[in-house]
Amino acid sequence: MTTEPAQPQHIAIIMDGNGRWAKKRFLPRTVGHVKGAAGVRRIVKACADRDIQYLTLFAFSTENWRRPPEEVSTLMDLFVQYLQKEMADMSKEGVRLRVIGDRSAFSADLQARIAAAEQATAHNTTLHLTVAANYGGQWDILQASRAWQKANPTLSIHDLREQDLAAYLSTADLPDPDLLIRTGGESRISNFLLWQMAYTEMYFVDDYWPDFDEASLTKALTWFASRVRRFGRTDDQVANAANAAS
Ligand code: IPE
Ligand code: IPE
Ligand code: MG
Repeated sequence: MTTEPAQPQHIAIIMDGNGRWAKKRFLPRTVGHVKGAAGVRRIVKACADRDIQYLTLFAFSTENWRRPPEEVSTLMDLFVQYLQKEMADMSKEGVRLRVIGDRSAFSADLQARIAAAEQATAHNTTLHLTVAANYGGQWDILQASRAWQKANPTLSIHDLREQDLAAYLSTADLPDPDLLIRTGGESRISNFLLWQMAYTEMYFVDDYWPDFDEASLTKALTWFASRVRRFGRTDDQVANAANAAS
């Protein structure tokens, strides 16, 4: 926890810029989403090839329901298609899929497909792919608090410790992200993994998501490798711990 790993164990990505990618080409936004969905396959493979163990992708936020209904419905259709087309191949490559977020808002068909894909890939261990859909960091903290209270009806809120709450977050069995990548030029986290990113290195890049390829990932990893992760300590403490470990 004191030295900087050369490579992140867990990468989280805010896949932003699909709409602007399309607009720049005088195409409808939905074309950008189709291109963006293809990019998911590419980045999953690139991460597996680089031995990244955990990849978490922000696909749809709790705020994205505010978009025009046609766009929301395209995004839902793409999700269904993705589960239909790509999961078999990804499963062969050892990808385990999990979906986090409030899935009760999805159609019964989509919910069933998600559950089936999770079940079919539950034994895989090469890459843990988590898709955040109808996910919000604030929602996650709230649902974790409620779940903790439900599980501990005799305890008071004063008994609640940080590690107790973390155990009820939807990412409870994942390590916290080491690296966040956000494409599309914005420097914000838009209600993604708020609790979990307390010490995540944040990489904001102007490329639109459909243009983010293997070379872009390599650049992000090179940037990450140059960071010193202090976790509140001083540079000297970090250097001493690294020397002691080697
Ligand atoms: C990200 O691209 C995809 C989702 C939010 C679902 P956007 O659709 O936000 O693209 P821009 O930001 O409008 O370019
Ligand atoms: C964040 O992108 C959500 C996803 C990529 C799924 P948005 O495009 O929705 O973010 P804002 O609204 O610009 O902050
Ligand atoms: Mg956007």
